[in-house]
Amino acid sequence: MLSQLAILFIGLASALGCRTGTEIVSNQDWWKTTAFYQIYPRSFKDSDGNGVGDLNGITSKLDHLVDAGVGALWISPIYPSPMADFGYDISNFVDIDPLFGTLDDFDALVARAKQLNLKVILDFVPNHSSDEHEWFKKSVRREDPYTDYYIWRDGKNPDDTGKYEPPNNWLSTFQGSAWEWNEERGQFYLHQFVKGQPDLNYRNANLRKEMENVLSFWLKRGVEGFRIDAINHMFEDDRFLDEPSSNNPNVSAGYYDSLNHIYSKDQPETYNVLQSWRDLLDKYAQESNTDTKVIMTEGYANTDLVMQYYTHGSNIPFNFGFITNTRSGSTAAEFKSVIDSWLDSMPENYVANWVTGNHDQRRVASRYGSNRADQMSIVCLILPGISVTYNGDEIGMLDGEISWVDSVDPAACNTDAEHFEQYSRDPERTPYQWDSTTSAGFSTSSTTWLPVNRNYVILNLAAQKAVSHSHYHVYQAMTALRKLPIFKRGSLSVEVLADNVLAITRSVTGATPIVALVNCAESSVSINVKNSIAVLDQMTVYTSSVSSGITPGRNVTTSSVQLPAATTIVLTSPRLYQIVHGA
Ligand code: GLC
Repeated sequence: MLSQLAILFIGLASALGCRTGTEIVSNQDWWKTTAFYQIYPRSFKDSDGNGVGDLNGITSKLDHLVDAGVGALWISPIYPSPMADFGYDISNFVDIDPLFGTLDDFDALVARAKQLNLKVILDFVPNHSSDEHEWFKKSVRREDPYTDYYIWRDGKNPDDTGKYEPPNNWLSTFQGSAWEWNEERGQFYLHQFVKGQPDLNYRNANLRKEMENVLSFWLKRGVEGFRIDAINHMFEDDRFLDEPSSNNPNVSAGYYDSLNHIYSKDQPETYNVLQSWRDLLDKYAQESNTDTKVIMTEGYANTDLVMQYYTHGSNIPFNFGFITNTRSGSTAAEFKSVIDSWLDSMPENYVANWVTGNHDQRRVASRYGSNRADQMSIVCLILPGISVTYNGDEIGMLDGEISWVDSVDPAACNTDAEHFEQYSRDPERTPYQWDSTTSAGFSTSSTTWLPVNRNYVILNLAAQKAVSHSHYHVYQAMTALRKLPIFKRGSLSVEVLADNVLAITRSVTGATPIVALVNCAESSVSINVKNSIAVLDQMTVYTSSVSSGITPGRNVTTSSVQLPAATTIVLTSPRLYQIVHGA
């Protein structure tokens, strides 16, 4: 999509690694404006026809990521696992599950990614292992040094049969008590997720060392960073007191949200361990003279707590604002408030990030509506810093329909036929829709681990590449824009224009700004952009939501821009449009 001239322009301006004399200086800043892409390996591409995605499948599709303009891929867990939580229950942190391939396959993936200048980020799951991990088996038997690798507590109030109650009222995020009795050890162990995911004990120095070794193992295999799973669950208050009720009348007893998790989440010690991992990664990068290793952290918590991840070593503490605080009917003022709140709370000199979806949340096109899927791609990709896209969202994939009997996600299966839809994460995990062949080109098998969404015949990547204007093209156009200096260095202004329209403007001195106009209203509007933003009389539509019917390349008069209901357009100078499109 980018012309030679544009590439030259970008090349000069980019903060790329460079050579000074004989010394090679690594690329410290590579991540700061990168479009990150999450791959859920079970659902991305199946290379061996067993209906489950795998590493060779991912490798075979890395060109897609380059084509989409993505710079880094975060791969959800690929380690040996009994799959009680589809890979987030790990029985060996330093190997590959045969379902996904082998360490050789992993090395081949990393090698191919390096050739393509893609950075590979692995999921690191420190809060728990699988109950099939050797450490847990040895801990059950009280074999040192493993005895205290997990959170073990005595039960209380034995009944006549000698059966104990759990140590306290803590709940699993997947419902029910967070404690499981182990007969052999004669104690309860804590599991904040499913019972096959015993919580590791970060107050144990040997355990902390083991987890450092895990990070080093994968760094040596060439990964460029880690996404740290459920980081705010890592420590528990060591008094193990009952948690108070959340007093939420809409949540039944025994469901996670019925308690206020003041003792089992967000404990201050978490930040020190994170800092030690930051130091380890920095030391590795320095000693091997390689590019900055990034840390992305997953913590659904209040803004103050999330901001502290920045100052303790996370490059990318996930900003879930567009998942938790805005939705289809949100007004321009609400969007502005979510954007401002992150930027205003962020400590100085850190980098913002914007997440639209992941494997735990309904798909962006289902949350916002298909007509607003492009809106969210445009907003996240024009805002300064990092964007994080969940695989399939770049083509506007929709949630699959998975019935109660077909549900496999423990978050659904631990509820009942009446409540599962509210909790299930199966819908957003259906296989990637590559084309209109068998199983959407995901697998040669017609049976896949989750059913392919029936809409694949029309909603697929190949179909979107074949037409001139599609969700994919919008995504691609926006990632191309991010390579320009105006994106990398430009200032930002976010304004609510009349009639519920959000204007996001990126500018550098001496150049015409780039403006995204987001019509949050469900009715069409005509706005005078020139009144509030220093645009030219005539600007070109660089890209636009598919539902707008406005073809990219069209010129508009900025004193009177027509925006159909719920649509978004991006305006650039006619000259910039020509440069990017090689005209
Ligand atoms: C994180 C993951 C989620 C998983 C949980 C337990 O929230 O994103 O998928 O179930 O941690 O590992």
